[in-house]
Amino acid sequence: MTRLGVLASGSGTNLQAIIDACRDGMLAARVTVVISNNSQCGAMKRARSAGIPAIHLSGKTHPDAEALDRALSDALAEHDVDLVIMAGYMKRLGEHTLNDWQGRIVNIHPSLLPRHGGAGMYGPNVHRAVIEAGDEVTGITIHYVEGDYDTGPTIAQTEIPVAPDDDAESLARRVLEEEHAFLVATLRTLVSGSRG
Ligand code: GRF
Repeated sequence: MTRLGVLASGSGTNLQAIIDACRDGMLAARVTVVISNNSQCGAMKRARSAGIPAIHLSGKTHPDAEALDRALSDALAEHDVDLVIMAGYMKRLGEHTLNDWQGRIVNIHPSLLPRHGGAGMYGPNVHRAVIEAGDEVTGITIHYVEGDYDTGPTIAQTEIPVAPDDDAESLARRVLEEEHAFLVATLRTLVSGSRG
């Protein structure tokens, strides 16, 4: 059973999809810890309701950036995590975490990277950029995390057509809905080879 650590800052619908898939036996995994920089976010509430340890780590708990970085990496290790999932986590990871967990951190991004990724490209900004660019196709990218925002080897991508009457809001809704199944399906391929 693969042990997952999920990093999230927002509503946590992707986290919920993972929790549900584990519960329903769709994913041979267990979320052993959820970590957030936002103690009040939906993801933290979802974790608590599911009985999963929910840890708040941020500039408030650790004003020193290096201490925060180490605390994050340590918390993942303490919960014996095999694979780290960034599911709407808004902070850049520190050097220690990136080194300690190299090759074991996965991020989901709601566009076809490298299009519409990088600093500032999160939440509604991504979908606004897709509409403004006049793209006819957008999608979802799941990739391993390297140093910078939205960089690292692609694991899986799926395309989603942009409808002529789409605005950023309708597109955001549709892409997010598709993220849930796509994330679970991609994680299934990743966890199938992990420890039993
Ligand atoms: C998703 O669109 C994800 O791709 C992006 O942040 C959003 C998180 O949504 N990185 P939720 O918190 O899982 O509902």
